[in-house]
Amino acid sequence: MYELLKTIMIEDLEVEADQVSPDASREDAGLDSLATFELSLALSQRLGVTIADEDLFGLRTLADIAEFLERRTGGRAPQDAGLARLLGDGDGCHPDRPSPAHQLARNETPFQPPESVLDAITRAAAEANRYPDPACGALRAALARHYDLSPDRVAVGAGSITLLQALLTVTAEPGAAVAYSWPSFDGYEVLADLAGFRTVRVPLAEDGHDLDALAAAVDEHTRLVLLCNPNNPTGTASGEADLLRFLDAVPRTCLVVLDEAYCEYARDPGLGARLLTSWPNLIVARTFSKAYGLAGLRVGYLLAEPGLISRVQRMVMPLSVSDVAQAAALASLAAEKELLGRVQDTAAERDRVRAALLALGFDVPPSEANFLWLPLGARAQEFAAACASAGVDVRPYPGDGVRVTTGTAEDNDAFLAAAETNRP
Ligand SMILES: Cc1ncc(COP(=O)(O)O)c(C=O)c1O
Repeated sequence: MYELLKTIMIEDLEVEADQVSPDASREDAGLDSLATFELSLALSQRLGVTIADEDLFGLRTLADIAEFLERRTGGRAPQDAGLARLLGDGDGCHPDRPSPAHQLARNETPFQPPESVLDAITRAAAEANRYPDPACGALRAALARHYDLSPDRVAVGAGSITLLQALLTVTAEPGAAVAYSWPSFDGYEVLADLAGFRTVRVPLAEDGHDLDALAAAVDEHTRLVLLCNPNNPTGTASGEADLLRFLDAVPRTCLVVLDEAYCEYARDPGLGARLLTSWPNLIVARTFSKAYGLAGLRVGYLLAEPGLISRVQRMVMPLSVSDVAQAAALASLAAEKELLGRVQDTAAERDRVRAALLALGFDVPPSEANFLWLPLGARAQEFAAACASAGVDVRPYPGDGVRVTTGTAEDNDAFLAAAETNRP
């Protein structure tokens, strides 16, 4: 934790390196009240927990601050925490950091939006002097038609992450717990912490979610289960029969969120939507960020029963989905055939990369998403660093493995070349 503190002080607060040492007092390290305030903001952002400047005022030295941070975060490594980690962009916001030649750390699609979507974006951008439709009416109606649901069963937000945050906020209560597989989407950890939930991690089985163990982990305090299917970062997916058994085993008082951010790449993309009508405690989360290629415009949605949708919708920041984003999402739904054709191409590339990795001797589970998982254990960071020096940005999970997004054939070949020189 001291190393993180030191980095923030030097990089973000621009304190001279020779002023920073564990036994330097706050004054010697240049932490006057304004700098202490700035430090508290930077720490909160990096660690994903709220650190107020008052928390730091009573601490004498930098070692004392590091020790306080250790206690406040439960010793959790900063790589695993913080909103800045959600997209795998480990060190937060560094506008001057050069982009890697091959960005394979963020599970984005490498394709630009289709022409028809770019046209819709341009048309909507010309009306940027107008506020957006706060109800996202046209988009909700189009999604409702798409899934054959009534519009009151659809919530739209600025990315599915904001809707998950709203959902966790409206369901939080003292002593409540949220359960999920681990490793899974690290955003769950951050959102659960922010909403004040106790978190219960259930280790994945060899071939994906351990749904029996997850159901057994649900008790009277569990308000939510977050089930990422296909799972980020492993790409493994549970099928209908297993999910039905799981839903049967979970009490109706516990909400089950099926996070289908990557379902378009899966064998059964319609799974969540099919289950929805029979399970009132089921919520399906989907996004336009991945297969639909609109990560930069921020649009996601939830499908659930109307009472829950209206509670979530009330918690979402008004006007947060721009008209440009709404228009792009509508146009993407209309261009679905073209977009899903690209999904097929990506899935074929993913399978090509996996076959090549297996031939190199890597262990890689079959993936139903636009990324692959290399369970490298203790070698994860070293492997990711070797890829980075070859210009390929992949996502390390320290101690567990490395996740690599499927990019263009050229990106993937660059990754395979790096993997070949770092084979097990
Ligand atoms: C499993 C999962 N769910 C949700 C999200 C959030 O997606 P967005 O907020 O872009 O819709 C991500 C992003 O990487 C993800 O991997």
